[in-house]
Amino acid sequence: MAKIIDGKKIAAEIRNNLKEEILGLSKKIGRGPCLAAIWVGEYQASNTYIKAKARACEEIGMHFRLYHLQEDISLSEILSLIKKLNEDSEVDGILVQLPLPPHLEKNRIIEVISPKKDVDGFHPYNLGRLMVGEPTFIPCTPAGILEILRQEDIPTEGAEVVILGRSDIVGKPLANLLLQKKIANATVTICHTGTKDLYLHTRRADILIVATGKPKMIGKDMIKEGTIIIDVGIHRLPEGLCGDVDFLDVKEKAAAITPVPGGVGPMTVAMLLKNTVKAYKQNFHIQYDNEDL
Ligand code: GUN
Repeated sequence: MAKIIDGKKIAAEIRNNLKEEILGLSKKIGRGPCLAAIWVGEYQASNTYIKAKARACEEIGMHFRLYHLQEDISLSEILSLIKKLNEDSEVDGILVQLPLPPHLEKNRIIEVISPKKDVDGFHPYNLGRLMVGEPTFIPCTPAGILEILRQEDIPTEGAEVVILGRSDIVGKPLANLLLQKKIANATVTICHTGTKDLYLHTRRADILIVATGKPKMIGKDMIKEGTIIIDVGIHRLPEGLCGDVDFLDVKEKAAAITPVPGGVGPMTVAMLLKNTVKAYKQNFHIQYDNEDL
């Protein structure tokens, strides 16, 4: 029976530590950190994420400003809002909730966010820094996954890590981080829709990270005995929430697995808070203790 990795608990601890830190810093600085979130349209999954982020901010004493924009907003309107927020000294972090409506190209928008306020870590400057081994803001889901591996003492040195999914948000930055010598020193494979023999790769993974967006696509026939599974997906099916992994099917064969819900999701939010506190401290030139990189 696999160990069920309690992401909810790890995330709660991180949030508690941040809450204490904010309490102390707010007194010195005169205000708490502030995260501004831009949400365009009515995509329902985004509504859930935005609510979770807002709640998490409020609980730790972080201001949360939501800019909920009409689906048909123009590129120039959204860019002027971002420029205004870049200049706003009361705002430490800015995020644009993805996905965006089809007429808005995400890269044209993300590149306008000030890299100093890019708490999602999606700006090309921050992604470039990550790639050369000097990360500033690490994208939140990859950062959450690294934190899980670290807190669970899962060895990564020389491990065969197989990532399913090559998104700009998860697969690509995570692969880059995991192959870095001082972070994980793993052997990393990314599989995607063009991969010829998926089973060949998934069956030799010591650590399998699944971010495909396809509900329950990984079953026990696709993994080796004792693998560690990190499930990034979340889907609402008539019978309830599930991930990209068929949890009940694999749980006897895997050594450890992140559940859905309560695995990677809460860690992503916790890392967003952490990045925002980092931006806030940098904004006020307080030395950031980069202890975990
Ligand atoms: N949509 C899905 N995940 C994310 C995320 O981490 N950040 C943003 N901004 N949008 C997302």
